[in-house]
Amino acid sequence: MSTGLTSFTTPGTNRQMILAQRPQGTPRTTDFALREAAIVAPGDGAFLVRNLYLSADPVQRGWAANPALTPIDAPMRALAVGVVTDSRDSGIRTGDIVYGFFGWQDYAVATRADLLSHIPRPRAPLPAYAGVLGMPGVTAWLALHDIAPPREGQSILVSTAAGTVGSVVGQIARQAGAHVVGLTGSEDKIARCISHYGYHAAYNYKVGDLSATLSAARPEGFDIYFDNVGGAILDNAIRAMARFGRIVQCGTAATPSWNPPPTGLRNEREILMRALTWSGFVIFDHVDRFPAAIERLTDMLLAGQLVHDEVIRPGMDHILPTLEALFAGTNSGKMLVYIGED
Ligand SMILES: NC(=O)c1ccc[n+]([C@@H]2O[C@H](COP(=O)([O-])OP(=O)(O)OC[C@H]3O[C@@H](n4cnc5c(N)ncnc54)[C@H](OP(=O)(O)O)[C@@H]3O)[C@@H](O)[C@H]2O)c1
Repeated sequence: MSTGLTSFTTPGTNRQMILAQRPQGTPRTTDFALREAAIVAPGDGAFLVRNLYLSADPVQRGWAANPALTPIDAPMRALAVGVVTDSRDSGIRTGDIVYGFFGWQDYAVATRADLLSHIPRPRAPLPAYAGVLGMPGVTAWLALHDIAPPREGQSILVSTAAGTVGSVVGQIARQAGAHVVGLTGSEDKIARCISHYGYHAAYNYKVGDLSATLSAARPEGFDIYFDNVGGAILDNAIRAMARFGRIVQCGTAATPSWNPPPTGLRNEREILMRALTWSGFVIFDHVDRFPAAIERLTDMLLAGQLVHDEVIRPGMDHILPTLEALFAGTNSGKMLVYIGED
C-alpha cells in the first residue's frame, strides 16, 4: 500500500489561519483570518514540521472557545500530519512523518509534547494517520474496549454512526458479534452505515419520533450506547436502554455551547432504575496508548477489516468550510485539507 508521500513544497513564509475573535457557539468563517508569518527555526529539543494534512475535528469548537487553548491572533489549535524538515531532537529525524498539535499553518515548531504519533515508517497512506489511525480512530478503539466492550449477542446503539469515530465503533462492534444500530442525520449516511460499515440497521434521528424508532428497533433495550452527541438524542437513548446497560459519553456534538450550561430532562431516575453505568472518555488522557492502538488498527486496515471514508480538499482556503461541514453534518467521513503543495 502506497503511503502517499511523493513531494511537497517548502514555502518561504508561514501561512497561518488565526483565530481573530472568540466564536459565539459554533465557529464561523468570520471568526478567522489568514496571515503570513516568518518561519521560526527550532531550538534545542524541538523540530520544524512542514504540515501536509490539516485536520478539522469537532473538538475544535471547544478549543476555539477556550482562551487558554487558542489565544486570539494565534493559529487555530488543530491536529495535522506533517513531515519533519529540520530537527534538534536526536530521536526525531528530518523526513519523519509526525501527527500532533501543529495548528492550522504551513509550519510548526514542535516538541515531543505536541506529538500524538511519530511515524518514521508509515504502513498506511498518510491521511489515515489523522483519521482512522489518528485521534478519532484511536478514540473509538480505546473508549469502546475500555468502557463497554461488546460481547456476542449484545446490542449497541451508536450516534454519529457514519462519522470517523462512529464508523470505527460500528465495525469493531459488528466484528465482536454484537447487533449494531446506528443513528445519523441523512439518508445517504444511513445507506453508508449499512453498505460500508456493517450496521444491522440505521435511522435518521431528524425524522419522526426518535423514542418510538428506538423502541421498535430494540424492544428489549440496548446493552450499550456509544454517544457522540448528547442532548435530546441522549435523553431518548437513555430511555431505550436495557437494565445494566453501559453508556460511553464520547462527544457532545449536539450542544453548540456550554456557557451558560444547557438545561433539559432529568435523567437520574432512568439511570437509577435501569442500573446504568455512564462513563466519560477523554482521549488526551491516553496519549501513551496511541502506538499500540494504531498498530492494531493498521493491521485491521491492511487486512481489509476496517473501512474508512475520507474527503481531502486542496489548499488552506478550504479549511473553514471543512470545519463548518462537521457541524452541518455534510461531511462524509474524515475531513482533511492538503497543503503540501505551495
Ligand atoms: N471523547 C474524546 O476524547 C473524543 C475524541 C474524538 C472525537 N470525539 C467526539 O466524537 C464525535 C464524533 O467525532 P468525529 O471526528 O468522528 O466527527 P464526525 O462524526 O465525522 O462528524 C461530526 C458529526 O456530528 C454530527 N452532528 C453535528 N452537529 C450535530 C447536532 N447538532 N446534533 C447531532 N449530531 C450532530 C454530524 O453527524 P450526523 O449527520 O450523523 O448527525 C456530523 O457529521 C464528536 O462529538 C467528537 O467531539 C470525542
